[in-house]
Amino acid sequence: MITNTELEQKGNQFPAQITRYEKKVDTFFFYTINNVVLQVTIFRDNVIRFRYATDGVFENDFSYAITKNVTKGYNKLEIEEKDEIYSIVTERIICEINKVDAKITLLDAKTNELINKDELGFHWEENYHYGGNIVKMSKNTIKGESYYGLGDKPEHLNLKGKRFQNWVTDSYAYEKNTDPIYKAIPFYIGLHNEKAYGIFFDNSFRSYFDFAYERKGVTSFWAQGGEMNYYFIYGPEMSDVVADYTDLTGKPNQMPPLWTLGFHQCKWSYYPESKLREITSKFRELQIPCDAIYLDIDYMDGFRCFTWNNTYFPHPKKMVKELADDGFKTIAIIDPGIKIDREYNVFNEALENDYFCKRADGPYMKGKVWPGECHFPDFTSSKVREWWSGLFKELIEDIGIKGVWNDMNEPAVMEVPNKTFPDDVRHEYDGNYCSHRKAHNVYGMQMARATYHGLKKFTYPKRPFVITRAAYSGTQRYTSTWTGDNVASWEHLWIANVQAQRLAISGFSFAGSDIGGFAEQPTGELFARWIQLGIFHPFCRVHSSGDHGDQEPWAFGEEITNIVRKFIQLRYQLLPYLYTAFYKYQNKGNPMLKSLVLFDQKDIQTHYRTDEFIFGDKILVCPILEPNAQGRRMYFPRGNWYNFWNDELIEGGKELYVETRLDIMPIYIKEGAIIPKFPVQQYVGEIEIEQMQLDLYYKCGKEKSFLYDDAGDGYDYKKEGFSLRTFSLVGKEKEVIIQQYKTGKYITGYKDFKIKLHGLPFEISKIQLDNEEMKFETVKVNGDNTLIIDKNFTELHITG
Ligand code: GLC
Repeated sequence: MITNTELEQKGNQFPAQITRYEKKVDTFFFYTINNVVLQVTIFRDNVIRFRYATDGVFENDFSYAITKNVTKGYNKLEIEEKDEIYSIVTERIICEINKVDAKITLLDAKTNELINKDELGFHWEENYHYGGNIVKMSKNTIKGESYYGLGDKPEHLNLKGKRFQNWVTDSYAYEKNTDPIYKAIPFYIGLHNEKAYGIFFDNSFRSYFDFAYERKGVTSFWAQGGEMNYYFIYGPEMSDVVADYTDLTGKPNQMPPLWTLGFHQCKWSYYPESKLREITSKFRELQIPCDAIYLDIDYMDGFRCFTWNNTYFPHPKKMVKELADDGFKTIAIIDPGIKIDREYNVFNEALENDYFCKRADGPYMKGKVWPGECHFPDFTSSKVREWWSGLFKELIEDIGIKGVWNDMNEPAVMEVPNKTFPDDVRHEYDGNYCSHRKAHNVYGMQMARATYHGLKKFTYPKRPFVITRAAYSGTQRYTSTWTGDNVASWEHLWIANVQAQRLAISGFSFAGSDIGGFAEQPTGELFARWIQLGIFHPFCRVHSSGDHGDQEPWAFGEEITNIVRKFIQLRYQLLPYLYTAFYKYQNKGNPMLKSLVLFDQKDIQTHYRTDEFIFGDKILVCPILEPNAQGRRMYFPRGNWYNFWNDELIEGGKELYVETRLDIMPIYIKEGAIIPKFPVQQYVGEIEIEQMQLDLYYKCGKEKSFLYDDAGDGYDYKKEGFSLRTFSLVGKEKEVIIQQYKTGKYITGYKDFKIKLHGLPFEISKIQLDNEEMKFETVKVNGDNTLIIDKNFTELHITG
């Protein structure tokens, strides 16, 4: 055999000397003598895209991640040619390109500080076996630099000193440090010298990130195919990096229905119908709020998607309707594998229309999942997605299912070593035909996208709700997500906390874990602690595999039931606050959970904190992650914080021991905050909200708070049918002034605000509302410290 050593062993190759450049509007092309082309596109003053072609020709420019709604435009763009470099200058960034080797240096345009610098920079290896290249990039790590992001990695929040892989993988009972797991989000944030930047490596092949693991001063990322194609996003605020990454890859396409922020109860599986009803009735009987109930795979006929098991569920439509009358929205699971069965219409339709994925040499991709041998739709084809969307008509329009849960969409295949499709499977990739090597990481995303479009169409004029397990960057536009098959262990409680924070940093806020753990069974104590954390995750669902006992709020005895009820009630009280946080996420890309480093990056103490986080922008939470804990140490970020349970004021910027009986978890409110609260309901919409409570936490100084309202469903909010209130608080030694500014045309059902004052350091002597003095009789100020005022006030002035 003759081995072509030249092809197989070219080793690393590098761009050579740049000889010339061209500029086309917002894009520069730099040409090297060895045929490399570097494309630099200025998206915004702080967002630059870098792309490299190794032999003069770029691939078709196509991405599932980047949204068509991305914001573009800059205030300044200049290029200067110097002896050794080209210097591209925007209002925010200086991008220097070395003429000799095409290496990039990025500097802050205002201060000239170094932000990011190529080490070896771009290089590549030819891939003889598959064609194309293994594309690589290495950058210098700067002293004291920390790294965050990458989606769902079950690892310490700070990624420094570690290496990761992005390859969407079904990971039953994964462990701390298992890598990779369900999601591929090739986006990270670097932070050094108080400044943060982000890098989004938009390449769907199997990719790797090394944060100073292999070599101390070097951070690198590479992929097994495709192009070196990355976006550099400069902050310097980390929260802006996240918002700009979310702008690139998309915010959720619409607000979620408000009920989806309520509590969800799930199990594999509740059946038959009588069991399901027993569960829902128990929630109402015990007065534990709940909005959603789930049907796992056993509702289907032999696990065939879009069918019903008529023995377990003889009258699905009637059942779903009666559950809905009791406030329960029924959510059904749909997996990608379609059972090979000539008697099954979904299978026949797909076969006749050639919708299934094929192996390289022609046969259909065949793999075993729950129904046995299956074929799998190629969701990277728009035709297939459209067909798939249409399949939801009956489930949604006729039966009345309110949400769909997409699972096993990595795609998971059972009883094969790599747990998924072989590499050679072909995909359409929307006109960019390719193998599974390239399509694997986006397969689940495209399935969720197709499901989303079905739901959007058939739930109209209501809003759709989808949940997915697998995801690539951008999936947040279509769906919520959960963190897959975790385990009922204390370690997994830690993991759930880190994952939800990390997903929020990675643009995917609408996420949560299987509360209590999917595999195995929690103790009552663990379940209670997990609920306490879970009510602070945007997606809040109990789920378990069910083969290890029950996992409903009442399954662990009365003490635990009471604790669980208390915290789920708190979740329902905080719904307007959570909904407002969602609005900011959906509108501006602001993450709904903020790790402490995201909250205060200038405080170096926050860089390695994992447990504490900010829920929305005003509530500091710290879960209890150990058994028998009567207390724990936690870090309070700078500023002052009120203990939610007793209003005690704590000065932040330090670590303190806090007490935490089992029915308490550490919750602190930022001083100056105004927190909107609903009364407790058993489900969203159970009662007309006649009054909105505003919990006001006194501060000597200024603070802004927000309250967003809309109809809680439907699309009127897109046409001004919303109400956004900004409360500006100014506190002084003997007075507090709150000014309200409102935009939007939605008229809320409630007429009044019930303001509850916390921490006021003076006795009230006078209250003025829009310059008129209020009579004390109407204001129960010195009783329970509340006052009721018209919601349309402009200025409330409280004097001591
Ligand atoms: C997978 C899912 C899990 C589900 C089960 C059965 O393991 O992750 O949530 O209950 O399949 O459908």
